[in-house]
Amino acid sequence: MEKILSGKPLAKLIQSKIKSLIENERFQPKMLLIQIGEDPASSYYVQNINNIGNKLGCEVLNNIYPADFSQDDLLTVLDNANRDISINGIMLQKPLPSSFDELKIAETISPQKDIDCLNPINLGRIILEEDGLFPCTPLAVICTLKYYKIEVEGKHIVIIGRSSIVGKPLANMLLWKKPYANATVTVCHSRTKNLEELTRSADILIAALGKPAFVTEDMIQSDSILIDVGINQITDKEGRQLYVGDIDYNSCFDKALAITPVPGGIGSVTSSLLFLNLVKACFSAHHINKSIDDFLNYILLE
Ligand SMILES: NC(=O)c1ccc[n+]([C@@H]2O[C@H](COP(=O)([O-])OP(=O)(O)OC[C@H]3O[C@@H](n4cnc5c(N)ncnc54)[C@H](OP(=O)(O)O)[C@@H]3O)[C@@H](O)[C@H]2O)c1
Repeated sequence: MEKILSGKPLAKLIQSKIKSLIENERFQPKMLLIQIGEDPASSYYVQNINNIGNKLGCEVLNNIYPADFSQDDLLTVLDNANRDISINGIMLQKPLPSSFDELKIAETISPQKDIDCLNPINLGRIILEEDGLFPCTPLAVICTLKYYKIEVEGKHIVIIGRSSIVGKPLANMLLWKKPYANATVTVCHSRTKNLEELTRSADILIAALGKPAFVTEDMIQSDSILIDVGINQITDKEGRQLYVGDIDYNSCFDKALAITPVPGGIGSVTSSLLFLNLVKACFSAHHINKSIDDFLNYILLE
């Protein structure tokens, strides 16, 4: 097994497979990408989505609204997008203004077009192990483990972080009764008392807490697999801005069996999977029903 579990070759593979899928169809998947205000980090991410869309042959309609856009206006935009049959997927760039009711907004996005998996119906399907649209970051972790042929079944996986976009859905996906899941999962959070004892018992440790270099060598067991979901912007001693993960890469590198880098790890895979969801939603709209496993097998096995 490779020691450095880079996301780049996997992202490239996902993109090339998606591109060939689209080339063989008479329709072009179309995403509505909504951004409110012009937060620089969001704009960078939005630009990246636009670039991937262009590369793959998907249309990305990028609607940027002013920072004082109201919640009612956003709900109207979403209602119209739900009804517009030319739009296959809706992506709402975060952060939203703090006064917005995020649950109401998530519930307004049609579950069939919910490519970022915000709607509670899609999140609920994860627990029931039903097919749907799945959150991209947890799916990126699953794909990374599958791509690098890391055995998951029966392994003890410890996740640090219980957010609704990463930790909780990921924990449930790793519990699926599927050959690439079937793990025994422990989820830790800020109130977990014996955190280090738990992280040291992990065969696979997944850090998704948003604290730079939080996981250090003494918190892991030898030969464990480390998956770093964190993306934290820090300023180094020379005043340069850089991105680091939640795992202290340098201190853990020698002790771990394998580790994902930041940048260039899980984050690289995540944005490509947004387009997998878009294609899945677009195919369903054209009555071509393929499950997530059909897509994963097409990408990773064929
Ligand atoms: N790679 C990607 O594609 C991608 C996508 C999304 C997010 N991210 C990154 O992943 C990280 C997590 O994102 P998120 O949105 O899930 O974060 P979040 O909503 O802030 O959740 C953080 C979680 O970590 C837990 N936590 C915080 N401090 C802790 C501590 N000292 N010990 C144990 N648990 C602790 C929190 O516990 P409580 O619940 O008790 O507060 C919470 O459950 C961030 O760095 C984010 O930038 C990456």
